[in-house]
Amino acid sequence: MAMRNIREEGDSILLKRSRPVTDFNRRLHTLLDDMRETLLAADGVGLAAPQVGVLRRAVIVMDTNKEDLTPAEQIIELVNPEIVSSDGEQTGQEGCLSVPGVYGIVTRPEHVTVKAQDRYGKEFTVEGTGLTARCFCHEIDHLDGHLFTEIAERILTPEELDEMNGERE
Ligand code: NI
Repeated sequence: MAMRNIREEGDSILLKRSRPVTDFNRRLHTLLDDMRETLLAADGVGLAAPQVGVLRRAVIVMDTNKEDLTPAEQIIELVNPEIVSSDGEQTGQEGCLSVPGVYGIVTRPEHVTVKAQDRYGKEFTVEGTGLTARCFCHEIDHLDGHLFTEIAERILTPEELDEMNGERE
């Protein structure tokens, strides 16, 4: 496994549409392994392949609702993911490893169901609520070249960021 560089806003790859994964081979497995390592090191909750420079429809999301699991165990790998249903609404803070230091207020569904394939090509369905639902939507948006800053109602002010960082300490 190896860490990969996270591409940041201004890099045109983040605005491109990713292609479906068709080969569930070692190259894909290496990509997913590297994405896991990169996400854990960056202390994020989700990562999409285009963020590490690969225009393929693969994302990883941490199911942070499963508090009894370690961060590594919380990671769900989704290849060719598709939101098949969503309901409810949540409005809250959102950030992105590709837009460091910026947080915005974004409205997302409270609950989503996602259909995807695992690293071997086997189809599965997974549900997420709260932050996990937000994360599924955010990562899948990356596969279509969209960043949260496009849909944020507003970006947090420096004062609000200070307050948020204060809460974390
Ligand atoms: Ni992101």
